[in-house]
Amino acid sequence: MSIAIHKYDVVIVGAGLAGCAAAREASAAGLSVCVLTKLHPLRSHSGAAQGGINAALSAEDSIELHEFDTVKGSDYLGDQDAIRLMCSKAPETIRWAEKMGAVFSRNDEGKIAQRPFGGQSKPRACYAKDRTGLTLLQTIYEQAHRDGVEFKDEYYVADILYKDGKVNGVFAYNLVDSTPMIFNAKAVMFATGGYGRAFKINSNAHANTGDALSIVARHGLPLEDMEFVQFHPTGIAGSGVLISEAARGEGGILYNSLGERFMTKYAPNKLELASRDVVSRAITQEILEGRGCGADKDHVLIDLTHLGEKIIMERLPELRDLAITFLGQDMIKEPISIAATAHYSMGGIPVDINGHVRKNTQELVDGFYAAGECACVSVHGANRLGANSVLEALFFGRHVGENIVKDLKENKIAFKDASSNDADPILVKIEKVRTSNGNERVPKLREELQQSMTENAGVFRTEKSLLVQKEKLKELKQRFNNIRIDDKSKVYNTDLQEAIELSHMLDFSAFIVEGAILRKESRGAHYREEYQARDDENFLKHTMSYMDKDGNLTTEYMDVVLGHHELAARTY
Ligand code: FUM
Repeated sequence: MSIAIHKYDVVIVGAGLAGCAAAREASAAGLSVCVLTKLHPLRSHSGAAQGGINAALSAEDSIELHEFDTVKGSDYLGDQDAIRLMCSKAPETIRWAEKMGAVFSRNDEGKIAQRPFGGQSKPRACYAKDRTGLTLLQTIYEQAHRDGVEFKDEYYVADILYKDGKVNGVFAYNLVDSTPMIFNAKAVMFATGGYGRAFKINSNAHANTGDALSIVARHGLPLEDMEFVQFHPTGIAGSGVLISEAARGEGGILYNSLGERFMTKYAPNKLELASRDVVSRAITQEILEGRGCGADKDHVLIDLTHLGEKIIMERLPELRDLAITFLGQDMIKEPISIAATAHYSMGGIPVDINGHVRKNTQELVDGFYAAGECACVSVHGANRLGANSVLEALFFGRHVGENIVKDLKENKIAFKDASSNDADPILVKIEKVRTSNGNERVPKLREELQQSMTENAGVFRTEKSLLVQKEKLKELKQRFNNIRIDDKSKVYNTDLQEAIELSHMLDFSAFIVEGAILRKESRGAHYREEYQARDDENFLKHTMSYMDKDGNLTTEYMDVVLGHHELAARTY
């Protein structure tokens, strides 16, 4: 089939903060840049980031302290060179965002206001009320537009064109009428966000199906540290919709059904402001031991009433609205119901410090870059600190954009013409899904995937639960071969899209489970009940797993970059 081939210097997939920031930098440097997104850019999940973006700005804070908190928060699995780079550039990143037009909340002195967040030694999260991500996304999107970036909204990228160690474009189809096309480029960057939708209770947008991870993995490229899934402590009970850490940063207190402030037991010094993994486990433990609230004893309470209406309306208006909408509870008048929710992926597509995608532990892929949540650089290691993800997306988005410019200016990447035949294998695969006439339903399989991942690969994991999940994934993959797609049309075929997304979720979930089975220790967000301690002797290393054509995984390990901070026990 002959299909259109569009040519650009740079093609970026994903229009959240990392994608928009990279696109803006590359376009401002004179390159032709196209951003493909399956959504409208302003519906990207970066816009849901509520609480803040970290930078050591105040006189009482320092870059060294930010760096130390991040290394400690990562449970020493974060790469210390990348962490140093990100933290040292954080103040400049904030100034750049302000210059671009982002309006941050101010303190009484007129300086950018900063609030405390978990695991941080100082109030460090700069914010725009509780709509920080949306404020930044609107600003950077607008500036990217002004600087000539071409946005193609509602385009679904289904594959990369990868041959001989080089990526030279992507295959996409537009959602409006399924027209297939190739986007041929010198440089391709993935900035597609996370994959929280693999879990039943999650804080993620429906779009967060981790497509990019499985696209990459199906070419035999590695995924890194996939076992590290962050559970945010405060999701709205039942739905998992995020109640920002800003709620605890502003002074929210957690209570169980006995009225106990239970964090005094789990983190006597930092209490509610211990790092996320610690607080999520504490909440889940309280529920498992029968001290949950409500008829089903399935949540705990966060109390903000002592803050008073003025502070809540000034700093947390969005959170109040969410709790009223989803729970019918007004945080000005009463405590609200929360439980841990799948929130963020620390692992992802392995990249070096400049965003080049790794082919294996030694080599890089030519012309291929990634940044933001889909990438693993790794600044978060085993556990991310709140407000470091917006920083990562914005800083590494720009940084990778700058590196693409540099690589292209230095002629490090050659343009390689794509041919329409390159799309044939993927067209066949998509057609096979579109015309499926079996008797399994995609929503049912997805529900089973999400439910089982939450039960077996959630906050607490055991060998037994993980092995059960490994088998469950095999079963779901088998059943996926027998799905039925009722909508055979080509116009906004969401049945087809959801089926492809489910196939992606099944593939990368196997990496989460496999990494978790092999990692026989507890570190950061990965908690194994049989191995409750961190084991630096055997597991101070990054997991790198590869999938073969039959879906079998093999795993090797990669060294963690150390050198600036001594290993120490992590207590809060
Ligand atoms: O809690 C929050 O506002 C989320 C922030 C983050 O994940 O960094």
